[in-house]
Amino acid sequence: MRRISLSRYLIEEQREKGRIDADLRLLIEVVARACQRISIAIGKGELGGVLGEAGSDNVQGEAQKKLDVLANEILLEANEWGGHLAAMASEEMEEPYPIPSRFPKGGYLLLFDPLDGSSNIDVNISVGTIFSVLRRPEGATNPDEADFLQAGSEQVVAGYALYGPTTTLALTLGNGVALFTLDREQGAFILTGENLTIPPDTREFAINVSNQRHWEAPMQRYVDDLLAGKEGPRGKDFNMRWVASMVADVHRILTRGGVFMYPLDARITQQGGKLRLLYEANPMAFIVEQAGGAASDGHQRILDIQPQRLHQRIPVVLGSKNEVETIVAYHRAD
Ligand code: AHG
Ligand code: MN
Ligand code: MN
Ligand code: MN
Repeated sequence: MRRISLSRYLIEEQREKGRIDADLRLLIEVVARACQRISIAIGKGELGGVLGEAGSDNVQGEAQKKLDVLANEILLEANEWGGHLAAMASEEMEEPYPIPSRFPKGGYLLLFDPLDGSSNIDVNISVGTIFSVLRRPEGATNPDEADFLQAGSEQVVAGYALYGPTTTLALTLGNGVALFTLDREQGAFILTGENLTIPPDTREFAINVSNQRHWEAPMQRYVDDLLAGKEGPRGKDFNMRWVASMVADVHRILTRGGVFMYPLDARITQQGGKLRLLYEANPMAFIVEQAGGAASDGHQRILDIQPQRLHQRIPVVLGSKNEVETIVAYHRAD
């Protein structure tokens, strides 16, 4: 593996392969640097006074952690001046954030979940940042919510930073998935994986089983059959993992396969699910598909869903392609 920096990787993608333009290269560099700053803040923990609640709620009705707010601010401040964006949207902001008039506007829209897995922050378990890039629609000089409502298949870039024992950045430009590891001495992300591939079959699933009594019948049947092991209809034993940070669960799947599910359940049906389409499901679906996996809401491909609202939620099933197809088959049989 060539140990090249993210900057050099992006220069090659721009100059040699013509896959990104200068604005997109700047956008990715800026987001990566913001994730590096978030990683440093997280690493300080109690010593940095960043743990605990912010004392405010977000549009999702969630109590915000100080780090939810700090990570959001870091991403806004890092991206607003560069001239590469026309607007930003975040889990932590009800409305889109327009680029202030004192700065030039660019042709891209940036969406992000600034801190994914917030419930894990105070117990020192891995958390992450998820981001997605769309093109600004023609003529949308001051993009509003409607301009963000593009199907996930319209994404030009998606990625996540995982703040774990190491800080890693997964990135897709639409031609496979690359992985970068933060070299803290250099202060640079270094290429440590290319063309990541998710094995099509798996024996590992990720779901919050405590919600089982609330799931719809197909998901109940599917998980019952997993738990029945080799004596059951699947004829093999399965293992379970649930980090409660989507980024950590998805990174494990990107690394060794598996299937991740956050299905509808009776408590959240009217909300449409738990995970947010535009800045959690779509970027993760893009990454997973680019690594040969699949991502569905149980019935249709996530990247085909036409969003209706900025903070729309959907059920999520993603990971090893054959296992996702099995889950979709359980839903079709219903
Ligand atoms: P966020 O912290 O950005 O609000 O996202 C949390 C999400 C996702 O990361 C994770 O998979 C899921 O919530 C965990 O949900 P439960 O706590 O219900 O298991
Ligand atoms: Mn949240
Ligand atoms: Mn999240
Ligand atoms: Mn979040």
